[in-house]
Amino acid sequence: MDATRRMVLSAAATVATTAATGPVFAQNAAPAAPAADAPKPNLPIVTAPGYDAPSEVKSIFVRNLAALEEQAKKIVPNGGFGYISSGAGDEWTMHENMHAFKRVQLLPTYLEGNGAPDSKTSLLGIDIPVPIITTVFGGHAIAHVTAEAGTAYGTHAAGTIFTCGSQSNLTMEEVAKASPGPNFMQLYIQNDAGLMREFVQRARAAGYKAIVVTMDAFFRSNRETDLANHYSSPFQAVNFPKRAETGYNASSQVMKTTVDWKDIEFVQKESGLPVIVKGVLTEQMALDAVKQGCAGIQVSNHGGRQLDDTPATFTVLPEIADAVGGRIPIILDSGVRRGQDVYKALAMGANVIALGRPVLYGLALGGWMGVRDVHHKIADEFRMTMMATGTKKISEITRDRLRV
Ligand SMILES: Cc1cc2nc3c(=O)[nH]c(=O)nc-3n(C[C@H](O)[C@H](O)[C@H](O)COP(=O)(O)O)c2cc1C
Repeated sequence: MDATRRMVLSAAATVATTAATGPVFAQNAAPAAPAADAPKPNLPIVTAPGYDAPSEVKSIFVRNLAALEEQAKKIVPNGGFGYISSGAGDEWTMHENMHAFKRVQLLPTYLEGNGAPDSKTSLLGIDIPVPIITTVFGGHAIAHVTAEAGTAYGTHAAGTIFTCGSQSNLTMEEVAKASPGPNFMQLYIQNDAGLMREFVQRARAAGYKAIVVTMDAFFRSNRETDLANHYSSPFQAVNFPKRAETGYNASSQVMKTTVDWKDIEFVQKESGLPVIVKGVLTEQMALDAVKQGCAGIQVSNHGGRQLDDTPATFTVLPEIADAVGGRIPIILDSGVRRGQDVYKALAMGANVIALGRPVLYGLALGGWMGVRDVHHKIADEFRMTMMATGTKKISEITRDRLRV
């Protein structure tokens, strides 16, 4: 570790303790975000020989979320940046995710006493200031030395929900210790049911509020940028016990490829936590999730990283929302870069959006403070959109406010 990095990290004081102030709204009320003058958290760090991940912790100027990619490219090692920024195949789906939002326009109404909107909402009983959470990523150490701890704490500082990846570079317990949450835990269905049982029970014991089960990544996708870069992460996924044959903790080699709804039932039963199914792109899968008693669905194509030529999530959202009919919450990810996108997703039937790549770029550029600033920026844009369209509260964001 170089001298600058040591200095930056040792400037951190003790872990910030946060106490909920004011009225407690719900049983699962999010812990109060730290005050601006709160002591800096003392976060663990993860490094790997030969991989010089960014390490600065500072507030960042976010012109807009899409612009962060170019900035991050300058400081994240080439292989790691390629892994984050690229998609599968021709990357059609990755780009289409963003284009789809632009094909639908906003219809503002004025002269209705437009004023400061109330953007608060909740997900699974957890109060959040805006309908925006952090989606799941595998190992975050490729973006910043504080890895998942930085992203989790930055998300907490923005007052919202962090989703920890099962492939994280810090254990779920280390992440939970670094940030009071609220946190969700993601899982890939494993061949070894005992391992999975242990995993979800650990998640519950560590205070995670829900399990997000990802359906769309049990196969190796054709990410050509990674192939061209001969990239494989130098960091280990540490959540699973070391395997004797490989001496390595990765769960990807033991993922189940024949997953069905019985596996979801197993996770529901063994975790005792709400289960969200991630990777929903069809009405039928959404209906099956409702039937299975899932607590929610995450409409996602993995940011166009898995199967190219699947539709944009925003494109399929209306039919999925119609099928679900408000029975369970819908989280949407993939391609959300603007407050207007959040508004459009809600108008088409999503309850919450999960923010993707820009969060990792914020982490790279400013550690937990960068993550917080990315969340603040899109939250501000979202509130501005509510105000400009004459929308006073979340329930007023309806389809008739869009021109399709
Ligand atoms: C670097 C990276 C790693 C990811 N790792 C996972 C993962 O381990 N599990 C998962 O369900 N989704 C994973 N995703 C997908 C995200 O949860 C989300 O679906 C996607 O980033 C949304 O697209 P967007 O970033 O373009 O908004 C990953 C995405 C990126 C960029």
